Amino acid sequence: MDIRVTVGDIAAWKDAAIVVNLFEGVTKPGGATGAVDKAMGGAISHLIAAGDLKGKFKESLVLPTFGKIPATRVLVVGLGARAGFTLDRIREASAKAVNQASKLGLASLSTIVHGAGVGGVDLAEASEVVAEGALLASYRFSRYRTKQEDEKAAAATLTIVTPERKDVRAIEKAVGVARVTSGAVFMARDMINAPSNDKTPRQLAAQCEAMAKQVGLNCTVLDEKQIQEAGMGAFWGVAKGSAQPPRFVVLEWRGGTKTQRPIAFVGKGITFDTGGISLKPQDGMLGPMWEMKYDMAGAATVFSVLRACAELKLGLNVLGIAPLTENMPGGNAQKPGDIVRTIGGKTIEVINTDAEGRLVLADGIGYALRQEPEVVIDVATLTGSAVFALGKKTFAVMGTDRKLARRVLNASAIVGERAWELPLFEEYGDQIKSDFADVKNVGGRPAGAITAAKFLETFTDGRPWVHLDIAGPVWNDKGADAPKKEYHPKGATGVPVRTLVRMLRDWKAAA
Ligand code: BES
Ligand code: ZN
Ligand code: ZN
Repeated sequence: MDIRVTVGDIAAWKDAAIVVNLFEGVTKPGGATGAVDKAMGGAISHLIAAGDLKGKFKESLVLPTFGKIPATRVLVVGLGARAGFTLDRIREASAKAVNQASKLGLASLSTIVHGAGVGGVDLAEASEVVAEGALLASYRFSRYRTKQEDEKAAAATLTIVTPERKDVRAIEKAVGVARVTSGAVFMARDMINAPSNDKTPRQLAAQCEAMAKQVGLNCTVLDEKQIQEAGMGAFWGVAKGSAQPPRFVVLEWRGGTKTQRPIAFVGKGITFDTGGISLKPQDGMLGPMWEMKYDMAGAATVFSVLRACAELKLGLNVLGIAPLTENMPGGNAQKPGDIVRTIGGKTIEVINTDAEGRLVLADGIGYALRQEPEVVIDVATLTGSAVFALGKKTFAVMGTDRKLARRVLNASAIVGERAWELPLFEEYGDQIKSDFADVKNVGGRPAGAITAAKFLETFTDGRPWVHLDIAGPVWNDKGADAPKKEYHPKGATGVPVRTLVRMLRDWKAAA
């Protein structure tokens, strides 16, 4: 979707639809909505008086203009009550308008900056979320459709109309940032939605190399030989059960000074999780097996965050690390009871081969520590337990550094991606004590998300570290329990890309 910014009067603007808004409880709209109402002979006020329009959050109404104003239709989106108004409501309202326009088959629409006038929100912030909500809602995964008409396209153009010439530059700048963030989210969604037969570790690594070249990131890829030579025995233990060779991707953004320690991200990149010898059932408690193509969402998130760093030219040094492999029950697969040695030297007893994410992350984190990072943040669809604890609408945050956890939680609140912290009390460590190795890879059913994090903590060597278990919100099956924001399509959501990009944008200010 192309977004343009123009000076003009929305009530006199010509397009297939113009978008205005309404707060709940308002009977006489003011601002831009008021101007359109007036030009339309009070049509909007009449609808409010008749009880057909209430301004409820995500309510939307399409009004034909019958030639009273140049636009063909007026789309009114509800912003909900003034109390509890958030930036994410603007994002969702903007997404709603785009979704509505798509249902109507419109090629273009024009909008005001919701929340900036009467709503009292900062113009740049409001513009960014209006653009972001629209862009995120315009996403389609149509690569595999041979008949495009199976899915309604999004409008090709959104024009943001502002009455003030002096505001154009600020709005354009905000739109530029939204383009980068949404582009990063799209890349993650594309990778996560792709079927595992088209995203083997080699294919994903090649995609990363191409992307890195395009945006100006350093990219190093280790192959199966180099992975074993580096001593990543836990990662290799998972990888050796597959006919597809693994890859270990390291992306690097050097926007900071030479001496600045990097912020290291490590993403779980299981391009398909069958469970290995501890094979998953066809229909598990949390979904069918085919969905396990999204088990590389952590890696996709990390790639997307690095891409955004380069495109926003952030003044930081950032590392993006991802072990990529399938988890398969091949003839050479590791077996329950096997003991593997990590890059850092610690040994792991593999009780359950389906707890493979923490195995590949143990080596991913170990590799990250060699780069002497300021902090380590790992991102993974790690446990079903995180979904049982928090549902699919919220991701779990666990870590050893208060400040770092706060950075993530604050950023998540700003961008409207729900996150909540779970405790990492030392007592939970009892559950992963092994009789035969330094640690075992499962701690039983109770507190499964926490014991998984406890396991990872073993490999962090006391570095400030935080772990995001994103098993819930990465995927939207549109059920009542799904993430289900107006800007989330079916399938991959792109959570938590926006949280992490926001955290990095605020990194120095929040220091
Ligand atoms: N990829 C899964 C976690 C998962 C499950 C994500 C369902 C999203 C939905 C992970 O590798 C896994 O299988 N975890 C096991 C661990 C258990 C064997 C200790 C789990 O959570 O059941
Ligand atoms: Zn698994
Ligand atoms: Zn997994």
